[in-house]
Amino acid sequence: MMTIIRTKDLPKYEGKEVTLRGWAYQIRDHGKILFYFLRDGYGFCQITIKKNIVGEEIFKKAKKIYREASVEITGEVKKDARAEGGYEILAKKIKIWNPSHPEIDQEVTPDSSPDILLDKRHFVIRGRRTRAILKYRSDALKYFRDYFYETGAFEVTPPLIVETLPEGGSDLFEIKYFDKKAYLSQSSQLYLEAAIFSLNRVFSILPSYRAEKSRTRRHLSEFTHVEGEFAWMDFYELLEYMEKMIHYVLKRTVEESEDVLKDLGIEVEVPSIPFKRVPYKEAIKIVREKGWDIEEGNDISDAPERDLVAHFGAPIYLTEFPVNMKPFYHKIDPDNPTVTRSADLLVPVVGELIGSGERETDYDSLLKRLKKMGLDPEPYYWYLDLRKYGSVPHSGFGLGFERFIQWVLKIEHIRDTCLFPRTRFRLRP
Ligand code: 4AD
Repeated sequence: MMTIIRTKDLPKYEGKEVTLRGWAYQIRDHGKILFYFLRDGYGFCQITIKKNIVGEEIFKKAKKIYREASVEITGEVKKDARAEGGYEILAKKIKIWNPSHPEIDQEVTPDSSPDILLDKRHFVIRGRRTRAILKYRSDALKYFRDYFYETGAFEVTPPLIVETLPEGGSDLFEIKYFDKKAYLSQSSQLYLEAAIFSLNRVFSILPSYRAEKSRTRRHLSEFTHVEGEFAWMDFYELLEYMEKMIHYVLKRTVEESEDVLKDLGIEVEVPSIPFKRVPYKEAIKIVREKGWDIEEGNDISDAPERDLVAHFGAPIYLTEFPVNMKPFYHKIDPDNPTVTRSADLLVPVVGELIGSGERETDYDSLLKRLKKMGLDPEPYYWYLDLRKYGSVPHSGFGLGFERFIQWVLKIEHIRDTCLFPRTRFRLRP
């Protein structure tokens, strides 16, 4: 009986015979002795292959493989201080599933342009760096989900083909839905608001779509949206909920994702909470002092936004946005009706990471602002109904997961945080 193991379990099998399946990351041929450096998705392992152990015929075959060959090695696990991870396998039997091809070395090279690297992303993701990023995506999704579960939220999966739009009209993907017009979802928020009336606290982790024409290093046309919506939570409780979430996820990152941080050669700092709250008016003053010509009432775009966070050197909540700058669903602040009870969380490297706020519960105010945004209220009938039947104060947020990864792992361009990114000029692979 074969004992098929994973590289991460090697220490448990010292001195035992095991079988390891993986791909050849590096191959070194020293004549009578051959080394494979194998990766199996969990880690790496050095394989030593000696002619006198495996026999002439297998040895010959073992020499005729190329990088990325898929192989199965059976042999004894030995301690070896020089090998990465501290163990190696001395091969006794070798099965070659696929020998790969000599052209592999021309597919991606250190000189490949960013566009070639994107065309060849199906190879790039096999590399150590991208593998680490993908592994962290999986870790971080778990940490976010755990936080939601621990705070009593349930996961729901709203539809992504929609006729109602939370964020308005400029960056829509319109699709043909049988004989009707529909859109790809920009955010699950409106459905999450409906779902709280069934489950009280809900979250979703789903793609959102934005037909972003601008080419920036933090915009995708498809991104992963981590969204939450909570009944009976007011704005100030929401701010606390979100900063605790960021703190929780980063703490677990430091404690449990050391393998990723080591592979990427980075350290992660857990930011202290509470985060500073900066009113929009004050933020405008700061960016103007830094030389940006931005008038009150305008959006703070990418570069000045980054300058603003750099000014504080830590995550900040940008609050008190003027009512006419924000979508219809934001609650107007009862203490100051010119501003909304909303906040963007800005973080170093990427700028805006979260859009959030308390939701408007006043039926007439919602209807008026929907119309003002140029939206036909008819398809929003169900959303308006929520304010009629059992309405409660509630709040929620949306976090761009790729921006989160970009921030935590200090990645220059957002496209490097995705399995297969979608941007204005990128639809393949
Ligand atoms: O600020 P946004 O547009 O807010 C909403 O969609 C709300 N309805 C969310 C909610 O309250 N449930 O988007 C939320 C976050 C942004 O802060 C940003 O991190 C990310 O989504 N995001 C993008 N990430 C990558 N590429 C894009 N094109 C993005 N657009 C938004």
